[in-house]
Amino acid sequence: MTTSSLPRHLGIIMDGNGRWAQTRGLPRLEGHRAGAESVRDITRAARQLGIEALTLYAFSSQNWARPADEVKGLMELLRDYLRDERAEIMDNGIRLEALGDTERLPNFVRDPLDELRAASRGNSGMVLTLALSYGGRESIARAARQAANDIAAGTLRVEDLDCNRLGSYLPTAHLPALDLLIRTSGEQRVSNFMLWEVAYAELMFVDVMWPDFRREHLAKCLESYGERERRFGLTSAQLAEQSDV
Ligand code: IPE
Ligand code: IPE
Ligand code: MG
Repeated sequence: MTTSSLPRHLGIIMDGNGRWAQTRGLPRLEGHRAGAESVRDITRAARQLGIEALTLYAFSSQNWARPADEVKGLMELLRDYLRDERAEIMDNGIRLEALGDTERLPNFVRDPLDELRAASRGNSGMVLTLALSYGGRESIARAARQAANDIAAGTLRVEDLDCNRLGSYLPTAHLPALDLLIRTSGEQRVSNFMLWEVAYAELMFVDVMWPDFRREHLAKCLESYGERERRFGLTSAQLAEQSDV
């Protein structure tokens, strides 16, 4: 595969942990625990392939409404993940970032998260972004609030608030455009993930539960991505002309 057919920015909705566990007669939390191994494998593979940005949907704004013991278990797994993966992240030059309302996270997650974000800030290998307490609508609403504040403060004119300008207020503005979005578990919806950024992303829905998803599955997705024609509203003929010059 040539580098040019690789997505620069890959997003994954890591879904199916609960069902993976339930079909094995295990508590849902065991599925989340098993899913951490998939995170490890996919992060390593993405880094080795040369993907610039990997964004993982780990916990949505709406997931706070799950049973308290599941939320608590997920938070403890996040804490463990940050502890266990610290060396791997630093050794591989990965920059760890987070998207979402991280203020809502308990201190025992937020503190190691902030610490690793700061420690890895200078790394240039791959940006690994964890979407935590994240919602696409919430993110757009926050951007709109910030733009409204700037208008009120006189530093932004209403007529200048176009797509580019509003997009610049989003927390993903510094990342490459989202090229490919994969959702595991067979569900075919975006569940409030990167609603703005998904505009021209290629979508793939894979019938594998997240704890079973490995680099072989990713490789198949990337192969299929390489075969798609991304037209961005143009015609195939126009695209052919562009690639001739
Ligand atoms: C995804 O797996 C992980 C989170 C949403 C935190 P789920 O927990 O949604 O698993 P299913 O969809 O119930 O199988
Ligand atoms: C989306 O999965 C959130 C994450 C993967 C973190 P959900 O399981 O919460 O989404 P729905 O409820 O099936 O739409
Ligand atoms: Mg789910």
